[in-house]
Amino acid sequence: MTEPLRLGIAGLGTVGTGVVKIVRQKAALLEARGGRPITISAVCARNRGKDRGVPVDSYQWEDDPVALAQRDDVDVFIELVGGSDGPAKAATEAALRCGKDVVSANKALLAHHGQALAEAAEQNGVVLRFEAAVAGGIPVVKTLTEGLAGNDVQRIMGVMNGTCNYILTRMESANLTYDQAFAEADSLGFLEADPELDVGGIDAGHKLSLLASIAFGTQVDFDAVELEGIGLVSIEDIQQAADMGYKVKLLGVCQMTGRGLEQRMSPCLVPASSPLGQLDGGTNMVVIEGDQVGQIVMRGAGAGEGPTASAVMGDVLDVARGTRVTTFGQPSGNLKKPKPAKTATPAPYYLRLRLQDKPGALAKVAAVLGEAGVSINRMRQRSHEQDTAPVLIVTHKTTRAALDNALAAMVGTGVVEGEPVALRIEQV
Ligand code: HSE
Repeated sequence: MTEPLRLGIAGLGTVGTGVVKIVRQKAALLEARGGRPITISAVCARNRGKDRGVPVDSYQWEDDPVALAQRDDVDVFIELVGGSDGPAKAATEAALRCGKDVVSANKALLAHHGQALAEAAEQNGVVLRFEAAVAGGIPVVKTLTEGLAGNDVQRIMGVMNGTCNYILTRMESANLTYDQAFAEADSLGFLEADPELDVGGIDAGHKLSLLASIAFGTQVDFDAVELEGIGLVSIEDIQQAADMGYKVKLLGVCQMTGRGLEQRMSPCLVPASSPLGQLDGGTNMVVIEGDQVGQIVMRGAGAGEGPTASAVMGDVLDVARGTRVTTFGQPSGNLKKPKPAKTATPAPYYLRLRLQDKPGALAKVAAVLGEAGVSINRMRQRSHEQDTAPVLIVTHKTTRAALDNALAAMVGTGVVEGEPVALRIEQV
């Protein structure tokens, strides 16, 4: 009989449990597709006694993921521990050093240490794959690395944090405040242990930086992702956007421009009729534009037991079949250090300001915008009872740098109360 491919699974939470279920329940299918049996030798998790709905007692148990990674009866180390450093990093490095192939769902680890880990994998003659780290069940890493390898990628756009999309959708559909929608997402268990990873755009930014590396042949540069979370988005923004035919989405965009690599993750207005505009609830979508293929739209579950375990098993089956693809689609030594281009591409922006209701306040704001070279396309001041006037402005196309200059100068006018909200209007 062909030798089995033996797995060591670090982390038996939602995803790890899903992987165990697939290995146990689909043994014949996996063997047929992988060309050899797939078995689990050992696992590692904090809580040994927990009922996971699937038996794990027959596997060897390690308390330390590093020990699991080094076991002689493990061919593939599956890292589902999470975290950009600590045990996840130590165990991944140990596995690579010991000549084990690694399959990881850890976007933070890859976003911060992807280049060094890819180099370590190649030096040790093993593969490090991470399909489950980006957009859950959507096979976007494989699509970019393999299916679209003959394309120059022009742009990738994505809604890659289901929790944020859920919150924004609920604000719109149920007229909830941000705090109410956040509390609802929390009660449903959607939020990461540190919610800022979700609502601050960090989790989605990690994913975007990984896709950018594959698409543009550059070293992962998460630190250069321009990050803005969804915390400042209000129901009013969502309603105003709807009035103009837009939806508000936490949108990631990466593209290579003449000035360098642009990577941004921020709440944007996108046309309501576009595929991204129609994406409701906790779902993910990735849009890839290639010079040969045109536009590809991939939609699916970005989290959860089945979808994420599905992505892990896709990578495991590649190892079983002997498909050996480099981490970012080409040898790590080829990957260039990117030159970051801070939002080089101009776009119209939606602005929401609260102005002191006194003569000349609006004129001062208009002057500041004009001095920064930002041209106003539409403006509306809504009738109000309070001391401050809600003002909405849609600009003509401008750069983020010019807009930031204008926003900074607005503080000096003394007529703007609180923090202005500025949302890019993205043509998708
Ligand atoms: N917290 C993420 C999301 C899933 O809400 O999409 C894991 O990356």
